[in-house]
Amino acid sequence: MRFSALIPVACAMVAFVLSMLALFAGNKPGFMEDYNIMTLNTSTLGHVLVPTPTSSSSSSASSTSSSLGSFISSLAQNITNSIEGELASIEGDIADKLAQTLGISQWYSLHFMDMCQGSYAPNATAKHVHKNTTECSNQTAMYHFNLTQTLNDQLHRGGLNLNLSDINWPSEIQDSIDAANTAMDATFILFMIGIGAAGVSILAGLVAFLVSGSRLLAFGNWGLTTISFTALLITAIILTVVQGKFVHAINKNGNDIGIYAYRGTKYLIITWIAPALMFLASLVWVFEFCIGRKQQKREYTEKASYTKRSKWSRSRI
Ligand SMILES: *[C@@H]1O[C@H](CO)[C@@H](O)[C@H](O)[C@H]1NC(C)=O
Ligand SMILES: *[C@@H]1O[C@H](CO)[C@@H](O)[C@H](O)[C@H]1NC(C)=O
Ligand SMILES: *[C@@H]1O[C@H](CO)[C@@H](O)[C@H](O)[C@H]1NC(C)=O
Ligand SMILES: *[C@@H]1O[C@H](CO)[C@@H](O)[C@H](O)[C@H]1NC(C)=O
Ligand SMILES: *[C@@H]1O[C@H](CO)[C@@H](O)[C@H](O)[C@H]1NC(C)=O
Ligand SMILES: *[C@@H]1O[C@H](CO)[C@@H](O)[C@H](O)[C@H]1NC(C)=O
Repeated sequence: MRFSALIPVACAMVAFVLSMLALFAGNKPGFMEDYNIMTLNTSTLGHVLVPTPTSSSSSSASSTSSSLGSFISSLAQNITNSIEGELASIEGDIADKLAQTLGISQWYSLHFMDMCQGSYAPNATAKHVHKNTTECSNQTAMYHFNLTQTLNDQLHRGGLNLNLSDINWPSEIQDSIDAANTAMDATFILFMIGIGAAGVSILAGLVAFLVSGSRLLAFGNWGLTTISFTALLITAIILTVVQGKFVHAINKNGNDIGIYAYRGTKYLIITWIAPALMFLASLVWVFEFCIGRKQQKREYTEKASYTKRSKWSRSRI
C-alpha cells in the first residue's frame, strides 16, 4: 500500500464533488442558488413604460403620433394607476413593484441545466438582499435558455397583457443567449467527460493504492486524470468566456430598458478549482510513475544479484 497514491484520489474526489455540484446547482428552488452562471435583475424591466415627472406621458404620445402613442400613454396611465401613482416619483418603488405589476419575476438566473426565477427579499433595492426563489424549470441535459419566450409568456399572462415589443425589447439579447446556448452544448459533453474520467480515476487510484508501485497503474491513472483535467479546463474556459460575453451583451443592450446582468462568480470559482485539482492529481501520478520505475529497477538489481549469488553458492555446493 502506498499512501501517496491517496493524494490524487483525494484531489479527484473533491474535483468530482465540485463538478457534480456545478452540474446540479439550482436544480430545485433554493438549492445553491448563488452558484448560477448568470443572474438577470429584471426588477426595473419595462420602466420605459412608466412616465417620469420630467417627461410625462405626453412626450411619448407626441413622439409616436399614431394610435400606438395613445395606447402607450394609456398603458402608462394604467400602470401608474395600478401602483398608486407613486412610481413616477420614487425610483425605489419602481424596482420594487414594477415586475409584479407586469407579471414577471424580479430576477432570472441561468444554471447549467435549468433556470430559476424569483423575487428579491426584503425588496429589490434593499442593501442586503437575498434571492427568494419561486420556481425553477425542469433540469434537462443541454438546456437552452429562452429568456424571450419566458418573458413574453409571463407578460402575456400578466396583469397588463403586454408583449416584449411594448417594452422595446432588443433582439440582440436573445441573439447573444442563443450563441451562449450553442457554446454550452459543447460544454455539456466536455463536462460529462471530465466528470466521468475523474470518477473512474478515483476507483483506479484506489486500486493503485492497494497494488503499490505498479507503473502501469500509475500510467493509467495519469492518463485518466489528464483527460479529466483537460476536459474540465476547457469547460472552465468556455464557461468563463460565455459568461463574460453574455453579461456584457445583455448589459450593453438591456440596461436602457431596465435589465441588468451579473456574473456568477462563485460558480466560476468552483469550475476552476476542479481542473486545478485534477492537474495536481496528474502531477502526483507522474511522480508515482517515476518512483515506481526507480523501485522496479532496484527490485530487478536485487533479484539479479540474488540469483547470481544463489547460483554461485549452488556451484560451490
Ligand atoms: C387601461 O385600463 C382601462 C380600464 O381599466 C382599460 O379599459 C384599458 O383597455 C386599459 N388600457 C390598456 C392599454 O391596457
Ligand atoms: C418568498 O416569497 C414568498 C411568496 O412571494 C413569500 O411568501 C415568502 O415569505 C418569501 N420568503 C422570504 C424569505 O422572503
Ligand atoms: C436591481 O436593479 C435595480 C436597477 O438598477 C437596482 O436598483 C437594484 O439595486 C438591483 N437589485 C439587486 C439586488 O441587484
Ligand atoms: C426596502 O427594504 C429596506 C430594508 O428592509 C427598507 O429600508 C426600504 O425602505 C425598502 N424600500 C422600499 C421601497 O420599500
Ligand atoms: C416538469 O416535469 C414534471 C414531471 O416530471 C411535469 O409534470 C411538468 O410539466 C414539467 N414542467 C415543465 C415546465 O416542463
Ligand atoms: C406584440 O404586440 C404588438 C401590438 O400590441 C403586435 O404588433 C406584435 O405582433 C406583438 N408581438 C408578439 C410577439 O406577439
